[in-house]
Amino acid sequence: MNINPNHLIAPSVLSADFGNLLKDIQMINSSEADWFHVDIMDGVFVPNISFGFPVLEVLKAYAQKPLDVHLMIESPERYIERFAEGGAAVITVHYEACVHLHRVVELIRSTGCKAGVAINPHTPTALLKDILPDLDLALVMSVNPGFGGQKFIPNALNKVRELRAMAERLNPELVIEVDGGIGMANLPDLVMAGADVLVAGNSIFGADSPEQMIADLKFYNHRKA
Ligand code: DX5
Ligand code: ZN
Repeated sequence: MNINPNHLIAPSVLSADFGNLLKDIQMINSSEADWFHVDIMDGVFVPNISFGFPVLEVLKAYAQKPLDVHLMIESPERYIERFAEGGAAVITVHYEACVHLHRVVELIRSTGCKAGVAINPHTPTALLKDILPDLDLALVMSVNPGFGGQKFIPNALNKVRELRAMAERLNPELVIEVDGGIGMANLPDLVMAGADVLVAGNSIFGADSPEQMIADLKFYNHRKA
């Protein structure tokens, strides 16, 4: 089992204070966080609309860590180039939103970005088998996408284990990301199951000290007993 000893933390900008966005961007810059997780929702694929290119421009200008763009939109192929120009390092599309998923993955890679595919809680990991060798990243949704602050769905742990086993055979370099309802209570188990990147919104921005919470999530296994 290839368990990542240095998991990455990706705070979800969706939970930031948009009245003081620059302050929260600077907090993430100076924290132990690794990536900025950027949730784009179109109100069609998911029952919510988040934000779009103007906010991405602000992130591109001020964020000093890679932008991990999670597209919860129908037919994302329409916007891949714009997100790449907008500063994305990773672009993840949903399995459920793409008829020609292989073509979309190739399009993402042609822009120079890393390509990810996300699966909703009801989508079996087995459906990723044929696309897995072409991916840089697979994202397991541990809530139904659309909103921050939801409860973690425990079956995500099984899905991470399954994907890690599939990746051992088909794509050992695959990065496995998990998104939704993650905090100190479940992050250690997810890392043990084989997760590399952990997204967290509410647990970070709802904490008394978001910066300290990021450090806790990052270094939970370095603490003294
Ligand atoms: C949910 C989004 C998540 C969300 C995570 O649709 O994709 O990235 O912002 O937020 P929490 O950690 O609060 O569940
Ligand atoms: Zn997300």
